[in-house]
Amino acid sequence: MVYNIPNWIIAITVVGTWLIITIPGMPPVFIAAMIVFAAFIIWYAFTQLYFSASYNNVLNIYLTNNLEGGGDMYTQDVLNFVARNVGKVDSVFEYCAGPGFMGFFLLAHDMCRTLSLADISPQAVKAMNMTVEENKLQDRVRVYQSDCLEAISADERWDFVVANPPWWLTNKKVARWSRILCDPDGRVHREFFENVGKHLKPGGSILLVEGGRYTQPDDFREMIETNGFEIAYSGKIASNKTLFKDMGENAGLRRKIYIALMRRGIMARKSYFIWIKRRESEKSR
Ligand SMILES: C[S@@+](CC[C@H](N)C(=O)[O-])C[C@H]1O[C@@H](n2cnc3c(N)ncnc32)[C@H](O)[C@@H]1O
Repeated sequence: MVYNIPNWIIAITVVGTWLIITIPGMPPVFIAAMIVFAAFIIWYAFTQLYFSASYNNVLNIYLTNNLEGGGDMYTQDVLNFVARNVGKVDSVFEYCAGPGFMGFFLLAHDMCRTLSLADISPQAVKAMNMTVEENKLQDRVRVYQSDCLEAISADERWDFVVANPPWWLTNKKVARWSRILCDPDGRVHREFFENVGKHLKPGGSILLVEGGRYTQPDDFREMIETNGFEIAYSGKIASNKTLFKDMGENAGLRRKIYIALMRRGIMARKSYFIWIKRRESEKSR
C-alpha cells in the first residue's frame, strides 16, 4: 500500500493535535473544528490510499477507492465477450481507464500483446503507472494522461477498444470529483467517436460498458453513425444468473463482497454492452 497524503494536511493535523494537547482550556469551537477536520482527513486518506488487487494470480493492479468506477465488476464479462466475439488480438486500448481494470485483465489473460490506457485523472495515471512498474510491463503497456483522445500518440493503432466511460450525459457543470459518473453534454463520448477512427485498425471494434439507468443504446446512435461506425450488438451485461459468477479471479473477500453487492445493485444490473464496428461501406476506405 502507498500513502499519498499532501504535506499540508499532515501539517495541520499535527499542529492542531499538538495545540489541543498542550494548551489547556481550548475553546470548544476549536476542538469541534478539529474533530470535523479529523473526519475529513480520515475520508481523504481513504481516497488517497493506493492498494493493489491481484488478477489472475499474475497481475497486481493498483487503485484508490475514489478511482473505482465499476470496471472491476465487468472484467470477467468483458473477457468472456472478447473470447467469444473478438479473439486474441495484437493491441488493445482502454479509454477512460481509471485504474485500467478491463485492459489489464485482458492483458493478464493473454488476450493481447500490447495495451494502451488513457484517463484524464492524474491519480488514475499514477495508479496505472504503478501497475506497469510493479508488474514490469514497460515494454507492453503505454499509459496516457489525456482529455478524451487529445494526447494519444499519432502512431497508436488498436485492434480492440474497451471503455467504461462516465454514464450520465448531463448538461450540468461537472466538478472534477464527479467525472466518474458525469459526461458533460456528452463530450467524452462525442469526442471519442470523432477521433477513435484514426487509431482503430480496419477490422477493429469497440466495446462500451454503459449504464441503463442513464442511457439507452439509441442515445449514442447518432454520434456512432455520423463517424462511420455502426452498432453491431447491444445487450444487458449482468443478468440474475451471472450476478455471482466468475468472481474467483478478483482476490480478497472484501472485493468479492463488494462486487457481488454492486452487481445486485440497480446500477450494475441495468448496465449494458454496446459493441461497435466500422460501417461496411467505411471498411474499404
Ligand atoms: C466510470 S469511470 C470508469 C473508470 C474505470 N474504467 C472503471 O471501469 O472502473 C469513468 C472514467 O472516465 C474518466 N474521464 C472522465 N472524463 C474524461 C475525459 N474528458 N477524458 C478522459 N477520461 C475521462 C474519469 O477520470 C474516470 O476514470
